[in-house]
Amino acid sequence: MVQTLDGITAEVVKSFEAAPDPRLRSIMESLTRHLHAFVADVGLTEAEWFEAIRFLTETGHMCSDKRQEFILLSDALGVSMVVDLIAHNRPAKATESTVLGPFHRGGAPELPAGGNIAPLDTDAVPTYVSGRVLDLNGDPIANAVLDVWQTASNGLYDSQDPEIKGLHMRGIFRTDAEGRYLIQTVRPVHYQIPNDGPVGRMLRATGRHAWRPAHIHFAVSAEGYEPVTTHIFDSEDPYLKGDAVFAVKQSLVCDFKHHDSPPRFTAEYDFVLVRNAQFAGSLNASNSPE
Ligand code: BEZ
Ligand code: FE
Repeated sequence: MVQTLDGITAEVVKSFEAAPDPRLRSIMESLTRHLHAFVADVGLTEAEWFEAIRFLTETGHMCSDKRQEFILLSDALGVSMVVDLIAHNRPAKATESTVLGPFHRGGAPELPAGGNIAPLDTDAVPTYVSGRVLDLNGDPIANAVLDVWQTASNGLYDSQDPEIKGLHMRGIFRTDAEGRYLIQTVRPVHYQIPNDGPVGRMLRATGRHAWRPAHIHFAVSAEGYEPVTTHIFDSEDPYLKGDAVFAVKQSLVCDFKHHDSPPRFTAEYDFVLVRNAQFAGSLNASNSPE
């Protein structure tokens, strides 16, 4: 029997017909159609198909409790940002989300207002980050939680740096009655995403760079509100226009102001959260401000 592309695709799609979960069925059917069309579109050779299998195998082998090469691959291909776009259709005034990235860790110490997340980075540029957590009406949210993480001034997260035992450059802060928070840290630097594995190989083979613009990660939450996972980016960073993981949104770009005496830099950023009930996470909903 002569097989055709359409015939093979139709047969595989049909094989999912009886899947009890309708969502899983429609995902597998669509995945099949797109995968087959992609292979046909590029005329994938057997050698290229085998290299793709090797690449994915290597990606799996690179994953550990300290490294998630599949998240990195998703980030570097822009998939994480497409998922983010579909998942979060917030009102225009609300703080936008961006990638979580592979370096968040649980168990960061809870610090008082003004606490220092960078106690071991003593040669770096002292910086304070402050602001408020607000609702859509501009009213303060007290007792909101800010889970903060960034690289040290050597561009490494604690889990990448053999000199650092345990947690560093991380902290949990709470807002006061006026919704204010204050974090002592160091000025963030641009750094390269891990590129000693298959994702790095993909970047080099395609002439791409691995740099991310300087940023600080925040996961901001408060009871009764939708949490937001995001970054603030340094407005002076040269890589804002070429983030290796496509995660920059203009509303997250923030000025780090220089001062002649310590702290050398200060940045101010207000986070705006949406009440749970107000949140309509559908792409079809209107995107206009409230
Ligand atoms: C990060 O900002 O930590 C990050 C995000 C995506 C990929 C790699 C690192
Ligand atoms: Fe980061």
